[in-house]
Amino acid sequence: MEYIDIGGTGPRGSVITLGCMRIDQLSESEVAGLIGTAVDAGITVFDHADIYGGGRCEEVFGAALASSGVRREDIVVQTKCGIRSGFYDFSAEHIRTSVEGSLRRLNMDHVDLLLLHRPDTLMEPEEVAAALDELVTAGKVRHVGVSNQNPAQLDLLRAHVRQPIIANQLQFGLAHTGLVDAGLTVNTGFDGGIVRDGGALEYCRLHGITIQPWSVLQHGQIAGTFLGNPDFQQVNDALDEVAAQLGATPAAVAIAWILRHPARMQPVIGTTKQARVAEIARAAHLEIDRETWYALYRAAGNVIP
Ligand SMILES: NC(=O)c1ccc[n+]([C@@H]2O[C@H](COP(=O)([O-])OP(=O)(O)OC[C@H]3O[C@@H](n4cnc5c(N)ncnc54)[C@H](OP(=O)(O)O)[C@@H]3O)[C@@H](O)[C@H]2O)c1
Repeated sequence: MEYIDIGGTGPRGSVITLGCMRIDQLSESEVAGLIGTAVDAGITVFDHADIYGGGRCEEVFGAALASSGVRREDIVVQTKCGIRSGFYDFSAEHIRTSVEGSLRRLNMDHVDLLLLHRPDTLMEPEEVAAALDELVTAGKVRHVGVSNQNPAQLDLLRAHVRQPIIANQLQFGLAHTGLVDAGLTVNTGFDGGIVRDGGALEYCRLHGITIQPWSVLQHGQIAGTFLGNPDFQQVNDALDEVAAQLGATPAAVAIAWILRHPARMQPVIGTTKQARVAEIARAAHLEIDRETWYALYRAAGNVIP
């Protein structure tokens, strides 16, 4: 495994993060096994949100950590707030209440990183800044970040929030390549040239904000995995070929493809299977050369001008 200081000034954690959005389906002992397997494989960062499983994901994680044998101080726990039922809420009151709820469910006195989950167009940046300041000063949140935000939204927040914004979660993977498409097809008539994220990749690189790609093996917006999906035959064939050459699984190669990008992204994987966690963790040591990176990009249905 490889490790980074998230956002340059944040906690040190593995380049692969384990997403906990789906662990509400598991029993406490299964989650304990999953945590143990992840840590054995070198994964030290665990991603949550107040809404995952209606709170059950944080709750079962908190209970399972105690029986997993893994020490709280040896892992990085991050969670998110701001999505409510049918609306977004970056009010100070909601941010505070959400964090209190997460800490209670996780059975922890702090989270290492709090992410604002999805932009709330009704937010008052001064109010967000005050709420984050209060939580950081109280020691309940160690670092702050965002999720699904474009450069202009980041600028607006950064003009008010005192703490550095160390991470931005964005969807990215072989079946969702928007982050790199626009830069690759700049000034062309290709659809990929349409900028949907305001240049988030370049902005985050420039400002040292770690991009944490989510739903890395999904197509659409969490519509199912593209792995082994006949609708994505070409990229599956290409992944199979590279996987055979490297002695790895196609899933690990798909993650290595993300890790190969010099933005030093920190993919969040979402499997609930211990064997898959261990296999995918090997991605950190797979070498994807430049030609192979582009071949996989093209096999995913992208054109380069
Ligand atoms: N910031 C945001 O807006 C946002 C949005 C969505 C998610 N997230 C974060 O990103 C994390 C990952 O999202 P995700 O769960 O959609 O990620 P993912 O890794 O793309 O998908 C995992 C899902 O794919 C399935 N899968 C099927 N074949 C697989 C294979 N060969 N290898 C691995 N998985 C396979 C898994 O099933 P098994 O469990 O049976 O392996 C699981 O249901 C979440 O847990 C959450 O922390 C953030």
